[in-house]
Parts: sequence; C-alpha cells; structure tokens
Amino acid sequence: MEKIIVDGSSRLSGEVGISGSKNSLSAILPAVCLKEKDSVFTVRNVPCLSDTECICNLLAEIGFVVDKDDGQKRISVYGQIEKLSLSEENVRRIRASCLFLGALTAACGEARVPFCGGDRIGDRPLDIHISVLEKFGVMVHVNQGLIECKAREFPLRGTTVFLRYPSVGATETAILLAVKAAGESYIYNAACEPEITDMAVALNAMGANITGAGTSVIHIRGVKKLGSLDHEIIPDRLECATYLLAFAVSRGNGSVKNVIPEHNIALISLLKDTGIKIRQHDTSIEIDASDCHYLPINADAMPYPGMPSDIQPLLSALAVLCKGLSTIKDTVFADRFQYVSEYKKMGVDILRSYNHIYICGPQPVQAATVTGEDIRTATSLVLAALSATGRTTIYGYEHIRRGYEDFDKKMSSLGANMLVVL
Ligand code: EPU
Repeated sequence: MEKIIVDGSSRLSGEVGISGSKNSLSAILPAVCLKEKDSVFTVRNVPCLSDTECICNLLAEIGFVVDKDDGQKRISVYGQIEKLSLSEENVRRIRASCLFLGALTAACGEARVPFCGGDRIGDRPLDIHISVLEKFGVMVHVNQGLIECKAREFPLRGTTVFLRYPSVGATETAILLAVKAAGESYIYNAACEPEITDMAVALNAMGANITGAGTSVIHIRGVKKLGSLDHEIIPDRLECATYLLAFAVSRGNGSVKNVIPEHNIALISLLKDTGIKIRQHDTSIEIDASDCHYLPINADAMPYPGMPSDIQPLLSALAVLCKGLSTIKDTVFADRFQYVSEYKKMGVDILRSYNHIYICGPQPVQAATVTGEDIRTATSLVLAALSATGRTTIYGYEHIRRGYEDFDKKMSSLGANMLVVL
C-alpha cells in the first residue's frame, strides 16, 4: 500500500487550480463506442489519474486507438469497436466500467462485461442499470460473474424509463442507450449532477439530440449517426470542495481557481453557515478561515444539488473543529463511513448510528497511523491529519491518486507538510 505522511498544524494559503472532473470523464469516454468509424473523439482538460489510465485501457481493449497526451491534458480516440467483451482486470478497478454495458449494446446490440469494481463504499448494486437495459429491449443474463446483454431488436427502440432512484450511473446508461435508438426516449427521475449535463453537452456536440439534462426529466430524440467530438471536460467539483475544506480545517486562506462555483453551492452555503468567509467569483472561490469560531454542522448528503455524498466523509474533518454537536447524514451511500474507525484511532470521539454520525466538538486530533480504503476516506484522513498535533501516516495513497491529480504537489504548494512514499 502507498502511504502519505502528514505533519499537522500548518495553515494553508495561496491559490490552487482545479483539474478536470474524473466522474465527467468516466461518463463521457464510453460514448466513444457510439461514434462513426472515421470520426475522431477528443476530450481536453483531462485529469492525469490512475482512473483515467484505466478507462483508456478499457477502450484499447475493445479495439480503439487511444492517443493520450498528459502534458496537453488531452485524449484523442480513433477507430472502431473490434470486440464486444471486456476482461476483469480493468473492469474491477472502476465502477464506471459498467457504462460499457449500455455503450456496447447501443452500438452493436450486445455486450459482455464482468461485474464492475470501484470504491468500497457499501452495497453498489446494478439493478437500476439492468432494469434500464431491459426497458430498452435488452436481454440481460448474469453468468459466472459476467453480465451478458443481447438486444431483442437492433437498432434499439426508444422508450420511457422511470428510475426508482436518481442514480448517476443508471442515468448515464439510459442516455447511452437512447441517443441512437429509433424514436424518442424519456428518462424520468434522472440524476441532475453536473457530470450528466457535461455528458449531454458532449453527445449533442457529436450530433445527438438531448434536452433536459441537468433536470429530472431528460428527453432524447434518437439519431442515426454520431460524429466527431472536441470537448473540454468541466472542472472537478469534488476536488474543488476538497481544497475548500483543506483551507477550512487548517484555518487557512486562499482561493481555488478554474472552477464553476455554482456546482459547489451546497458546500459554499454550509461553510458560510459555519462562520467561514467565502466569496464566489466567475471562475474562482476565495475562502478565509483564519479568524473564525466554527458553528456546528448539520448536513444531509443527497443527490445534486444537495450536498454530495463524496463530500460527506470530508465534512467530518471540519465537524471535529466546530463548537457544539454536529450531525452528518448520508442518504446516498448508507455505509460510506469507513473513516469513523480511523478517526477513533486519531482520538476523535465520533458516534455512528446507521447513516448518521455525531461529533461533539471542538476536539483535539491526535497523530496516528490510519488506513483509507477508498478515495474520499483516504482524503478525509489527510484533512483530519492537517489539524492534528504531530505526524500522521495514512496508508492507501493509491486511492487518492485515483481521484486527485497531483494531490501532494498541490497541497505542498499551499504550505502543507506532506510526503508520499510509494
Ligand atoms: N444504486 C442502486 N442500484 C443501481 C445503481 C445505484 O441501488 O443500479 C444505489 C447505490 O447503491 C447508491 C445510490 O443508488 O446507494 C446512488 O448511486 P449512483 O448510481 O448515483 O452512484 P454511481 O453512479 O455508482 C457516482 C460517482 C460516485 C458518487 C455517486 C453519487 C462515478 C464514477 N461515480 O457513482 O463517485 O459518489 O455517483 O454521486 O461517477 C467518487 O468519485 O469517489 C465516487 C464514488
């Protein structure tokens, strides 16, 4: 396991630039499967992450030629699908690999993809994805860990789907299935996350006809062909939130640049309520936490535009410093609390009851040796370590590399004292 060693008690200050969105990229790249053979699919502002590497490997595996230029933050994809199945090696590393079920079936009428992996943040079934596939007339069989899809009729026929929960991934699957299906499709109770809107913008630029993305009803008129793309990925709102919270827990001040502030409206509002000074500009957010007494937090993680579940583990690092009882609830992933046992090792008195945690602060945070087994847990532990007295060792840095570009370099440039040991 890779580790990061963090010396606590330094106040962060300065400016940090935010990279392209991991989750937007992982929604957009599978759409390559829908392009015409001779067209070129280019995405820019691509974050250099191990997850990016993984999706590129998946595309190469099914026959595409992937030209990845880390310096230019660009990926261009050429060619066409040569193979309709994916092997377990890359699929089990990321959740977004399940989008290839919809992408391959929409392109060729069949797909074989092993059960996907991704962060261990509780039960992550695929039932909504599967019911969407079935609504589009696709037969789905699970055979020894492999999900096999076969369209009853190809090209697919447009349909109306109602999602029992506004799942981000299942909304993406429905969009992929609908864009080239004959006729019209409606997706009701769709996820409204900015990554869905970004995906629709990219697909429309290829020639799709999608309206309503970013709302809970999406309408798609199927088209016969999708052409080339040259698209800039939106900034990563979760990376932006992480740096805002890093400034907050270290009682620092500075600004995050190259962001869309509106995408973080839930967090900005919470930070203001906590007593932190925040100013939004067109593409940046200034934060000053150097001279404030934090009021307690009362937050419910929920679908967008609510507080993201991804930020829930990070909020606890701030709750520890707030005066009074903070309550944080996760209505999206009821088990996203792996950090609780690790916080206890850092001397934090934190109580979990089902999908709630309670922290009565302020409390001192002690340095310890801890482990983060998913992206946001590992990052939450780094944030807690910033306010700790002494040197904390956090195992699981490889998870941070999955979701944060140049994390240690960006944090160090703000004055954090940390060292990564690979
Ligand atoms: N769900 C089902 N059945 C399904 C699909 C989802 O029950 O078929 C449930 C999940 O178990 C969960 C809820 O619905 O309780 C929401 O899951 P959703 O499908 O919305 O999440 P996802 O698409 O698997 C994406 C992000 C996550 C982020 C969630 C919530 C990607 C690659 N992942 O996951 O990001 O937490 O949406 O916003 O886009 C991360 O970046 O660290 C990360 C885990």
